Amino acid sequence: MHKSVLLKECLEYLNIKDNSIIVDCTLGYGGHSSEVLKKIPNGHLYSFDQDNEAIYYSKKRLSKIADNFTIIKSNFVNIKKELESLSLSKVDGILYDLGVSSPQLDVDYRGFSFHKDAKLDMRMDRNQKLSAYNVVNEYSEDKLTSILFNYGEEKFAKSISKAIVKSRPINTTLELVEVIKSAVPMKYKKDHHPARKTFQAIRIEVNNELEVFKKSLQDALELINVGGRICVITFHSLEDKICKEIFKSVSVVKPELKSLPTIPKEFEPKYKVVKVISASSDEVNENNRARSAKLRVLERIG
Ligand SMILES: C[S@@+](CC[C@H](N)C(=O)[O-])C[C@H]1O[C@@H](n2cnc3c(N)ncnc32)[C@H](O)[C@@H]1O
Repeated sequence: MHKSVLLKECLEYLNIKDNSIIVDCTLGYGGHSSEVLKKIPNGHLYSFDQDNEAIYYSKKRLSKIADNFTIIKSNFVNIKKELESLSLSKVDGILYDLGVSSPQLDVDYRGFSFHKDAKLDMRMDRNQKLSAYNVVNEYSEDKLTSILFNYGEEKFAKSISKAIVKSRPINTTLELVEVIKSAVPMKYKKDHHPARKTFQAIRIEVNNELEVFKKSLQDALELINVGGRICVITFHSLEDKICKEIFKSVSVVKPELKSLPTIPKEFEPKYKVVKVISASSDEVNENNRARSAKLRVLERIG
């Protein structure tokens, strides 16, 4: 089962009122959406996911609570277009809880886990064409190296890519793990699982995770009402960096205006950073996934 991360904190910082219009960009197994729904008897919840299995489960879960919700089976990169098609141009709260859910990781046939044998897959949207199999077996060595380096921050990117290309075809997750193990020094295997960073990198590439998040978050800035908040939970430094930079760029006075004695009203920031929170040690003890989680909260003020 999926244990929601930073749930209490999200509910608090989303500033929900009973008639709020809230968008959950990452429905997953409905942990956050369920609690939001309970707080908005006179509002509406719009929840996105691109994973049919998550939607199937969560639809039932949410239906037991209330019926003022709409599930949108789409990539959250389409947030603006999808909401526009429902005649919505502004909302009161937007939540992202990025990455994959525990059931996606636990079910062996999805191919996300380096602990379980499965076909190389890693697609969140199973209708999508590009899968981990294509990345591992068809990308050039240079392209693989750059993906492992940039998306996995993997210091052995070059030797792992070389070993991958030499061992093709690679069909399953555990075959890939063996290839990775053969390409890294003994000591590296002692510190942490040697496949962790490579798997993260391939997953990011397959689902184009960083690009879609960046685009969606920029659209979210436009969609949020004055007084409304955007909450983002990230699980690794690359997605956190994107969030931090976007939030910073809209919440500070532009450097070229800083020397002015007073900042003209139209150049004052329209957003403020409300909070940056990590999971408490109690939550981390209960849920290992929370150890790297970070919640950033932004409010529209003008
Ligand atoms: C960490 S889980 C969310 C868990 C949820 N907050 C809960 O408490 O049950 C992330 C979910 O977002 C979905 N997801 C990730 N990226 C997405 C995207 N770009 N568009 C739509 N859904 C996405 C995944 O399929 C997954 O179900």
